[in-house]
Amino acid sequence: MNDHEQGFFTELNSAEVVIGRNRNAKDERLKQVMAVITRKLHEAVKEIEPTQQEWFEAITFLTRTGHMCTDWRQEFILLSDVLGVSMLVDAVNNRKPAGASESTVLGPFHVDDAPELPLGTNICLDRKGEDMVIAGVVRDTAGRPLANAKIDVWQTNDDGFYDVQQKGLQPDFNLRGVFRTDQEGRYWFRAVKPRFYPIPDDGPVGQLLGKLGRHPFRPAHLHFILSADGFETLTTHIFVPDDPYINSDAVFGVKASLLAEFERVDDADRARDLEFANPFWSVDYDFVLAAAK
Ligand code: BEZ
Ligand code: FE
Repeated sequence: MNDHEQGFFTELNSAEVVIGRNRNAKDERLKQVMAVITRKLHEAVKEIEPTQQEWFEAITFLTRTGHMCTDWRQEFILLSDVLGVSMLVDAVNNRKPAGASESTVLGPFHVDDAPELPLGTNICLDRKGEDMVIAGVVRDTAGRPLANAKIDVWQTNDDGFYDVQQKGLQPDFNLRGVFRTDQEGRYWFRAVKPRFYPIPDDGPVGQLLGKLGRHPFRPAHLHFILSADGFETLTTHIFVPDDPYINSDAVFGVKASLLAEFERVDDADRARDLEFANPFWSVDYDFVLAAAK
């Protein structure tokens, strides 16, 4: 028997035998990752002591999760989201310096080819919902405004669906767009107040949430990706703070610093200038980008 071999597989030495078998892996990182995952998985089996039936149910669940995946539906990412793993991966990869805006999950509904629009554009193309104007400044951590920063934004419509979930029903690029900050780092655009909505819950992940007594809702939010030369790209949201699901986001994406203030404005003149119904919503939210490492 070689040194690295632990003998035949037993309940006691199970993880070490499997890990030892990977000793010739060419990729050190893969070897390390598989060692950790093997150790934790065996630990879980030893703690849970699943019956053969339970183990098979778990395999069936993963099989159904795979079958649910298509080019536009990624059920495994959804599983990672509801287990809090996506937010944890986001956290370990986005440790920001003091003062920088915090990140949160990307989610599945970003598109790469949203149109670049002039500041002030109304991105609500289906004209449903409560009018909202949003404005702010993008700065660096020293407080200097960042001109020409790119702001990619997307949100659901008033029925709680992204345009890509309702192709043909919603206009293409409804409630999404790309803006550039002006010389003073300012941005602004018009949209509608976002609403809470369920993550796609018609598959195995939705069934799992149901069995766990969990709802599938995300509190109302707008998505942002901000980028500027010399700065780390920031993927984040801003949330409606009094949303009924603000403390129970299905994917754990809420952070205190991402709660924006949604002010109800009753001002007929301003409403007319904005081509809004009166009253309307106004949001001021500034972003701070961290310098690239
Ligand atoms: C979203 O906010 O678009 C989202 C995030 C995670 C899972 C599903 C949707
Ligand atoms: Fe979303």
